Amino acid sequence: MSTTGSPLANPVIQPSADNPHGAGRPFWLLAELTYKCPLQCSYCSNPLDLSGSGTELTTDQWLSVFEQGRKMGAAQLGFSGGEPLLRRDLEVLIREARNMGYYTNLITSGLGMDDRRVSDFRDAGLDHIQVSFQASTEELNNQLAGSQKAFAQKLAMAKEVKAQGYPMVLNFVIHRDNIEQIDKIIELSIELQADFVELAIAQYYGWAFINRAHLLPTKTQLIKAEAITNQYRDQLNGKGPKLIFVTPDYYEERPKGCMNGWGNIFLTIAPDGTALPCHSARELPMQFPNVKDESLADIWYRSTGFNHFRGYEWMKEPCRSCDEKEKDFGGCRCQAFKLTGDAANADPVCSKSEHHSKIVAARNEAEQLAAGVAPQSPLLARNTRNQRMALDIIAR
Ligand code: FES
Repeated sequence: MSTTGSPLANPVIQPSADNPHGAGRPFWLLAELTYKCPLQCSYCSNPLDLSGSGTELTTDQWLSVFEQGRKMGAAQLGFSGGEPLLRRDLEVLIREARNMGYYTNLITSGLGMDDRRVSDFRDAGLDHIQVSFQASTEELNNQLAGSQKAFAQKLAMAKEVKAQGYPMVLNFVIHRDNIEQIDKIIELSIELQADFVELAIAQYYGWAFINRAHLLPTKTQLIKAEAITNQYRDQLNGKGPKLIFVTPDYYEERPKGCMNGWGNIFLTIAPDGTALPCHSARELPMQFPNVKDESLADIWYRSTGFNHFRGYEWMKEPCRSCDEKEKDFGGCRCQAFKLTGDAANADPVCSKSEHHSKIVAARNEAEQLAAGVAPQSPLLARNTRNQRMALDIIAR
């Protein structure tokens, strides 16, 4: 997630004993309420290994986190998962968060929602709902979601969200299996009267990394999909949904300024209370603090996990002497670790990285697979049955 140029920029703060790295406030709090999910998306960014993920925070523990975050200056609170609708206290959490003054948004598959819950969310003050779809057709959507009822339910809930007056974001994760239907995806979004549509090319973390060979589109597919999106933008001419096309960093030569910098504005709380600078950081070989053991202020300003990649001192070459380091922060720490085994390396997306050939190899592999030159790799759905296999693949 890149927020370069975002208005959510922290002012420069002088380091002090209480805040040794001069960290600003955590503007954006993401509450991953649960890792449980009725769907099985093969690009899910949740960790592969959920066996040690502990018990979920209670309602009171979540409320304490929200209160501490608000006192520290957090302004936006996202509820996600897994599927946050599986938490029966979601309405309470939204209401209390809204009363604390947060701008609240719900990121959901729509499964577990009904008319009454949409109405209860509205009464609780929820500001904004994002509904995810897998594809524009029932067959492909349900196949990718691993649920025969998913598409019909999503359609019904998207209509209900609009009927109850919410601004609605539709999110489609785009990959090789659905990129050719991008025009149909946009048509569906227009029909559903979405206000915003995120056409987000998959990012390769969690399950998506395991399935990258199957998911990564080719450069040609990408260029065509973006051109079609631009044609729709022209046709819509400001009417209808705002189309947001998120390009994948795998086809860039410079990395994204991931999370707007480590421990800069984003604070994710995992279901068990582990505090993370980004939702994927749990896969790094590092210790992260837990809100059950420490205050949020101690975690944000003073924990090793959050301070580790703040500033520029930790950087190696080529980042250390790079004149773009203040723009991209050396890229994504999680991607650097996944592709090079060292989270302090430059993100291999950068053409200055000595590991950039790994990105080039992934692009070439996508070309060969799309051309049928190499055999298709199977798509591993996110479920407990496949977890062992996924962990074995990552250990190789
Ligand atoms: Fe980029 Fe973790 S996903 S730093």
